[in-house]
Amino acid sequence: MGVVSAREMLLKATEGKYAVGAFNVTNIVQMEAVVEAAERKQAPLILQTSVTPARFLGVRVLAAAYRAMAESASIPICLHLDHCADVGLCRAAADAGYTNVMIDASKETFEENIRLTASVADYCHGLGDITVEGELGTVGGVEDQIKVTEDEAALCDPDQAEEFVRRTRIDLFAPAIGTAHGVYKTKTPKLHFDRLRTIFDLLNGTSPRVPLVIHGGTGLQDDVVRRLVALGGCKFNVSTELKHTLIDATFDYLSTHRDEYDPGRIDRAVNKATIQTVERWIDVLGCAGKAG
Ligand code: 13P
Repeated sequence: MGVVSAREMLLKATEGKYAVGAFNVTNIVQMEAVVEAAERKQAPLILQTSVTPARFLGVRVLAAAYRAMAESASIPICLHLDHCADVGLCRAAADAGYTNVMIDASKETFEENIRLTASVADYCHGLGDITVEGELGTVGGVEDQIKVTEDEAALCDPDQAEEFVRRTRIDLFAPAIGTAHGVYKTKTPKLHFDRLRTIFDLLNGTSPRVPLVIHGGTGLQDDVVRRLVALGGCKFNVSTELKHTLIDATFDYLSTHRDEYDPGRIDRAVNKATIQTVERWIDVLGCAGKAG
């Protein structure tokens, strides 16, 4: 078990019609809590870091913490660098021990997106079993340093999907289908389920080949999540909800313990709340008990 890249666990998820939760963490306390939740549920896991923590704590520190946790875990765990537009940082993360990297060149032209994504895929594959995610179309909203306005958001063109995957040689494909990063303005955002189905059929046919990634998990209703999984989404990204969990748990704790100066107790409050959030997601995604 332990340290793995994303591709194999996601092909298995596609085959089994469930999705693996991909949870963005900003620090080691959150990382440990997400691992603990997945262990309790015996679920495969993708830990993700956005670019800001990757620069602040550094990819070597994050990768070392991941490795220490994953090596003693009874479940497969991948460490993924999320939405990185900087080719140099993608390479540094792969060098440091991340096992999956997302190069996000989705704001570039089609040809430039292919060129940048292919260069990261070639580099990571050259190092060994490090897999790569690319995005086509542009997912709206705010994810860390990537800000995409409603006008800039663009759906993935199914006619370009096969060419993109073939020419970039990526392992996981993130098609923009209307989900967005951050908090949705409505409970029923307009999602393009048919487009996801078309893309899944085009890329996978009857046997899983290219795992599909769904971005913008926070705020989607459970029935919508299950529908996206049934249509082939097998990596499900959740970030904003975990940030809210961390900040709300810290605030709640401090508002009743303002005279205490014991950071370990704040960490424990964050740990407990994060475990609850992640366990709930694992149940909705259907990946509990799939670690074996
Ligand atoms: P949310 O922040 O909306 O959960 O999206 C997460 C995501 O897609 C990270 O890539």
